[in-house]
Amino acid sequence: MQPSTSPRPLLAALQDRTEPVTVWGAGFIGLSAACALAQAGFPCTVLDTDEHRVGEINAGVVPLPGFEDVIPLAAARSGGRLRAASPDDTAAVAARVHLVCVNTDRAGRPVTGPLTTVLTAVGRARAGGETLVALESTVSLRWLDDLVPAALGAAPATDASLHLVAAPRRDWMLSPDMNLRTLPRVVGTARPESLPLARELYGAISEVVHPAPDWRHAGLTKPVENLYRYLDLVLTNQLAEAYPGLDVPEVLRLAGTKWNVPTFHPSIGIGGYCIPLSPRFAVDGTGHPGEETPLPLVAAAMAWDGDHPARVAESILRITDGPIGILGLSYAPNARIVEGSPAARVTEHLLARGADVLLHDPYFTPEEITALTGARPLRWPDDLSGLGTLVAATPHDLYADLPARLSALQDPPALVDNLGGYGAALRGTAVPYAEWGTPAARPSAAPRP
Ligand SMILES: NC(=O)c1ccc[n+]([C@@H]2O[C@H](COP(=O)([O-])OP(=O)(O)OC[C@H]3O[C@@H](n4cnc5c(N)ncnc54)[C@H](O)[C@@H]3O)[C@@H](O)[C@H]2O)c1
Repeated sequence: MQPSTSPRPLLAALQDRTEPVTVWGAGFIGLSAACALAQAGFPCTVLDTDEHRVGEINAGVVPLPGFEDVIPLAAARSGGRLRAASPDDTAAVAARVHLVCVNTDRAGRPVTGPLTTVLTAVGRARAGGETLVALESTVSLRWLDDLVPAALGAAPATDASLHLVAAPRRDWMLSPDMNLRTLPRVVGTARPESLPLARELYGAISEVVHPAPDWRHAGLTKPVENLYRYLDLVLTNQLAEAYPGLDVPEVLRLAGTKWNVPTFHPSIGIGGYCIPLSPRFAVDGTGHPGEETPLPLVAAAMAWDGDHPARVAESILRITDGPIGILGLSYAPNARIVEGSPAARVTEHLLARGADVLLHDPYFTPEEITALTGARPLRWPDDLSGLGTLVAATPHDLYADLPARLSALQDPPALVDNLGGYGAALRGTAVPYAEWGTPAARPSAAPRP
């Protein structure tokens, strides 16, 4: 009797963890997924167009500075089941299981190019058998309806051999405890028959999997959950503008004592990859991205938030006398993330108004600081003494002794504290202090000429 040549059913191969998985994109999302899958037992290839990232991963180096302790690359490689390659690796492209983790934004806007390229390659390589494609990248629902079928060259609802999955990510990448395994995973499929496969795959790496009615419901979950936070944060910043004579952080602390109200703090801007992008994905997904949007509240918040850096720059200029220093380019502490940097946006407005701006961030070289923002590099801590105003944008650990350093200066700059963390240590000192959102940070003096 001839041995059977038909491939094993995909569900069975997922159940015993023998099915090779291809992960597209070796950023935080793709590399962490690949590591988790390899640790769960799947042979895993992560593909990236960035040859440097590919080389580093194969050398055992996490190619994302600041995330060395969060991504378990060494443990994942120790089983011999993880490798990286470029997207022309024909065996990986022809795999039956694909996780798509490429970037879907650039310069603060959703983009479709990388997703289209990957899905087109997967669609071309399909040999006719079962294929599972899971979208971990953040997507607009419009893309699920139009872009994905067109790029794959398939009809998601009727192609019985195609298992399309939306499995958005919600990690808080700076916390090792809030990761793929521990955070509940929302997963939905284009056809109900694909759900057992998606549950098998994601059940292998996540403790809790929440099945959605379908992939559209799963896909929308990601923008919506971040949209709540975005609207809260815009409202927080609006309150600080609306009540310039009040200590708004104190009002918010008091409001936060109510059982169903989180405590927010006004800030110089909303940063990062996910939250500022969420309104764009949510509005686009309605299919009415223009003035006819059925999400007018979101559109109004985006418009107001777009003007926020200019307002912040204006307030800083009212306080300042002399060069302005800014501490922190990365929006999040102790990480190198330039995307959505509020400090960069405010710097742009300060420079446009003719201000002398110096910027420091321990995660960027002086050359990078100037190339990314146009500001002069600030030498930490030597340049603190020559400043008129210092904006503490991001509380990197390196700046933990900032209050002591400023207190020791003969003529310290006024400190504008974005998140209010340095106030207690400066109480009773000669350092002029303005917590963002308080009257001290919003002087009502006539605007500078
Ligand atoms: N970083 C987060 O915390 C986070 C959280 C939730 C969701 N997301 C979403 O996940 C997705 C990926 O995020 P990220 O932070 O890992 O992005 P990233 O930009 O750090 O990484 C994306 C990688 O994809 C690679 N790439 C681009 N085109 C490619 C192609 N054609 N073939 C192979 N590789 C290609 C890029 O070179 C890059 O290394 C985005 O949609 C993002 O919105 C990110």
